[in-house]
Amino acid sequence: MKPASVADYRELARRRLPPMFFEYIDGGSYAEVTLRRNVADLEAIALRQRVMRDMTNLDLSVDVFGQKMSMPLGLSPVGMAGMYARRGETQAARAAAEVGVPFCLSTVSVCSIEEVAATGVAPWFQLYMLKDRGYMRALLERAKAAGCPVLVFTVDLPLPGARYRDVRSGFTGATALSGALNTAWQGVTHPEWSWDVYMNGKPHTLGNVQSAVTEGRRVNDFLSWIGRNFDRSVTWADLDFVRQVWDGPIVIKGVLDPEDAKDAVRAGAQGIVVSNHGGRQLDGVRSSISALPAVVDAVGGELEVFMDGGVRSGLDVLKALSLGAKACFVGRAWAYALGAGGQPMIEKMLGTMRSELSTAMVLTGCSSVERADKLLLDVAT
Ligand SMILES: Cc1cc2nc3c(=O)[nH]c(=O)nc-3n(C[C@H](O)[C@H](O)[C@H](O)COP(=O)(O)O)c2cc1C
Repeated sequence: MKPASVADYRELARRRLPPMFFEYIDGGSYAEVTLRRNVADLEAIALRQRVMRDMTNLDLSVDVFGQKMSMPLGLSPVGMAGMYARRGETQAARAAAEVGVPFCLSTVSVCSIEEVAATGVAPWFQLYMLKDRGYMRALLERAKAAGCPVLVFTVDLPLPGARYRDVRSGFTGATALSGALNTAWQGVTHPEWSWDVYMNGKPHTLGNVQSAVTEGRRVNDFLSWIGRNFDRSVTWADLDFVRQVWDGPIVIKGVLDPEDAKDAVRAGAQGIVVSNHGGRQLDGVRSSISALPAVVDAVGGELEVFMDGGVRSGLDVLKALSLGAKACFVGRAWAYALGAGGQPMIEKMLGTMRSELSTAMVLTGCSSVERADKLLLDVAT
């Protein structure tokens, strides 16, 4: 199948990846209500078609923290991408750079900050608040030394939400023996993945936390170390600790509530990502797109507002911009494309999103993404 849409990359990834990795990417927490809402609420928004305007010149570019983005879209941090394709994070970083958009590296990536930076692309770096503050400090220093321009501080995971699919697929809760047998079986039944990732994509460790995890060698050992290290005592005051080490822009990821957004302004953040972690944390919360307008009003232009969750096309990007986002990020869309065929597929997927966004701009009469506003939406629906 030649992929034309994000749904097609999803299908290709489903065929190629061992089920436990596909389900890990595809799933959400609990009954997946929020996961569905993220997509459905974007779909329900109607664009306002306008015709007979000279739309010869379109400007899709935006400036974010002094960095020029070729379009208002970036790659959200996605854990363990190196298990979806060989050294997956380096492939994603190259794809993003090729297209001219930012790639944000997850704390729990297979490739370390240094391995990704060695591609010549310094990624944005995502960090969780870890109990081991010494290790956090070391990670921040490594990110700084690697030239990462932006820190994305994820705050909606003080503890991991329950993901039923991961239990059923054997991804979580496996013993060393059942985990090894499961991986071996899934490898045998997915030969393309086995050759690409299992045989040629080693080491299968989490590069950024490797030195802290002494007790194991499998990816799950690293995930359980991280699981034990999430810090639920974290408050806005802890941002001072981050500031001591990080002098660049800080983006708080995982804000849904306008009051939290105001706190982020007071705490001195430079940006926020309106996000519910792609419906992977507290199931039942509102969709990111429905939370966006009130958050934008609350911060009153004091910081950059980004949004992720449910974005599956360039049309979705324009809808989010119309409701006040500076740019959108995608998680699953790029993870599916990576699983479907690595860097070339991510580039192709981003190219599709770009042309969808262009079409939407032409047919709503919007010549510059910087000028997108509520007038692009059909409020009668
Ligand atoms: C497989 C997977 C792994 C993720 N890992 C992380 C992570 O390590 N850190 C983080 O801040 N967010 C993580 N997220 C959340 C994404 O950054 C993003 O918020 C979410 O995927 C956006 O929703 P979308 O997938 O509908 O685009 C992950 C999401 C997925 C699908």
